[in-house]
Amino acid sequence: MKKYDVKNLKLADEGKLKIEWAAQAMSVLQTIQKRFVRDKPFKKLKIATCLHITSETANLLITLKKGGAEVVACASNPLSTQDSVAAALVKHFDIPTYAIKGEDNKTYFAHLNAALDTHPSITMDDGADLVHMLHTERKDQLADIIGSSEETTTGVIRLRAMENEKALKIPVIAVNDSDTKHLFDNRYGTGQSTIDGVIRATNMLLAGKTFVVGGYGWCGRGIAARAKGMGSHVIILEVDPVRALEAVMDGFVVMPIEQAVKLGDIFVSATGDKHVINIKHMLAMKDGAVVANSGHFDVEIDMAGLEKIKKSKRSIRMSMHEYVMPSGKKIYVLGEGRLVNLAAAEGHPAEVMDMSFANQALAAEYILHHKGKLKNRVYILPKQLDQEVARLKLKSMGISFDKLTAEQKAYLSSWDEGTR
Ligand code: ADE
Repeated sequence: MKKYDVKNLKLADEGKLKIEWAAQAMSVLQTIQKRFVRDKPFKKLKIATCLHITSETANLLITLKKGGAEVVACASNPLSTQDSVAAALVKHFDIPTYAIKGEDNKTYFAHLNAALDTHPSITMDDGADLVHMLHTERKDQLADIIGSSEETTTGVIRLRAMENEKALKIPVIAVNDSDTKHLFDNRYGTGQSTIDGVIRATNMLLAGKTFVVGGYGWCGRGIAARAKGMGSHVIILEVDPVRALEAVMDGFVVMPIEQAVKLGDIFVSATGDKHVINIKHMLAMKDGAVVANSGHFDVEIDMAGLEKIKKSKRSIRMSMHEYVMPSGKKIYVLGEGRLVNLAAAEGHPAEVMDMSFANQALAAEYILHHKGKLKNRVYILPKQLDQEVARLKLKSMGISFDKLTAEQKAYLSSWDEGTR
């Protein structure tokens, strides 16, 4: 494999401007970057990253590099790469990048292999594909790894499954589980960028439509809140009784998918599980229903099943395919069933990725500082780091907030003062 693999280096100047625009909204990361420039914590350390190649990710990679690291990047999804950003990383920032929007699966895995060929000491994943490769095809490299970090819920679920089976052979930081990540990125980031993807792909009016959201985790909550804000009637699908109850008390309608398929105009799945929308469901949908996925992997909609039963298929707009079903009814699938917010739009805005990637930068530093002291487990960053990220974000927004008085602090740690 070459020293990089991107679509077209001529796109580099366009990508550089996108990266600059994102940078001005990533103040927490910039604060960390200044410290890294001064202290060079990663001097000569090799870091391999498998993340969505976006203008926000570029700012994280630049931060790591300014901290002294030798950084290599590959895409964490075949359809999420911003080709101009990939070109800019190579041409303007001298970061070897392996990512082409629309790459096939063979190229996707060749790119992961190219990243691991650099023999990194730290890896950074969005979906756990690098860690998976290290534990299967490239076990010989496990001994070189100090630790890894994971960006997304799906990746953390995979890693916890490895931990439970005692299959995990390296320490991992679950960045997703920091409050300043999932409460903001998953909720407000996925909320906005998913709606953005649906609108860019379809240009449909959301007001008055019936919008079905699969899953009421942090991503599902965000999508539901934003769809409601756009005037849609929102139906929630859930399997967890507590989450279903929360959705009801948040004012949404909850029902089984068999009922919802007959009512929905737009379906978005964000559960992290497979075949949430299966062939039986798609056959029962209204003519013209729009189907999209906002979960990490393209398994939530049974795309293989749909390909098998379809009468015909055509690309009708960018990021949208029309499937004619055996009955003659039409179903519209967005972004080939891959995450619609990155396939059809540009992913989460820089303001939220700022906190997610501040956590990633701090996770890499934490892994290095705790070299040899961590067990082969899934860890969460300490609460103080989470609070520091929130404090810096509030400061950058010009928002000050209260402090406990000495009297209040003492009260909270005493057990003497009760009923008076
Ligand atoms: N995941 C969701 N949105 C993203 C973005 N803008 N950059 C990187 N990863 C993302």
